[in-house]
Amino acid sequence: MYYIEQLNETMIKDFEKLTYTEFRPLLYKAGGDSSVIAFGAFSYPAQPIGLILGEVTKDGCMFIYTVFVKPKYRRCGVATALFKEMEQAAVAKNCCGLSLGFIHDNPYSELFNKLLQKCGWERPAQTVMLLYKMNMEDLLAEDAPIFAEMELPAGLTVSNWQELSKQEFEEIKKGKGIWYPELTSPFLEEERVDPFNSVFLRDENREIIGWTITHRLDSETMLYRNIFVKDEYRSMGYAMLLMGNAIWRQYDRGIYKLMFCVHVKNKNMNRIVSRFMKPFKYTVKKKLQFSKIL
Ligand SMILES: CC(C)(COP(=O)(O)OP(=O)(O)OC[C@H]1O[C@@H](n2cnc3c(N)ncnc32)[C@H](O)[C@@H]1OP(=O)(O)O)[C@@H](O)C(=O)NCCC(=O)NCCS
Repeated sequence: MYYIEQLNETMIKDFEKLTYTEFRPLLYKAGGDSSVIAFGAFSYPAQPIGLILGEVTKDGCMFIYTVFVKPKYRRCGVATALFKEMEQAAVAKNCCGLSLGFIHDNPYSELFNKLLQKCGWERPAQTVMLLYKMNMEDLLAEDAPIFAEMELPAGLTVSNWQELSKQEFEEIKKGKGIWYPELTSPFLEEERVDPFNSVFLRDENREIIGWTITHRLDSETMLYRNIFVKDEYRSMGYAMLLMGNAIWRQYDRGIYKLMFCVHVKNKNMNRIVSRFMKPFKYTVKKKLQFSKIL
């Protein structure tokens, strides 16, 4: 037998072991009026046996990051009950739906398919992102300088995040939705930005005309989160140039793994990334999304 409760600040510590380290900072934000919502399953007397963690995103959807049930308590309906609670919380928060992301070759794919079918979610899952991965440790020494060889056209310069002034950041912030769409903002998940590897391209007048923003995923992996070039500078190879510049910087620092996460509908970006990766050994994985519309 078990029971489910929404977790508040005082209960979270007992549940942190039921999720990956990367989700723990988020778990600690749950409770009160937070947009982060967690439900815990308890066996009697008050032992944590399961956890579901989600967040109401800016677009008004409940995104589920993780769900876990201790092996001894599986196949007793605990996960089903946790999903049900999360769905009720989503309804109470006026969410338009729920979603959950997945890599296509995840060993739990089939299991989640069945579980979510039971919970009335839509299936099959939709492919939303393509994840390109490369490990530069495998690069031949003579191939490595290929990143450095991409020379900047006369007058253009590259500065990293650290080299920008406060005033320049303010200027960029003012341009959101005017000369760049919100989705390509350099400030998304700003706390994860790697300041040495994220680079900005400047024109002859030192105006910012594009960027490549990277997040450090772990000690050996850089995620290329966002690449942007101003409209009037498109189709000039600047996106490739920015990527090459950033990759060379991480290679120089001994960070050899890199990952591009590109929305499947962003055909231009997928073309650029696959062209860029072509000379190297790389893998592409699909990020799937299950969803339920409310
Ligand atoms: C996936 C998981 C949460 C399911 O928890 P659970 O409490 O066992 O799930 P439920 O009992 O509610 O199962 C609901 C349905 O899912 C399906 N299902 C669950 N486990 C299954 C299994 N091992 N094999 C096949 N189907 C399974 C069944 O259709 C089941 O309904 P049924 O028992 O009536 O046939 C649990 O197996 C788990 O924690 N696995 C580890 C997941 C993980 O690593 N999470 C972190 C990253 S997201």
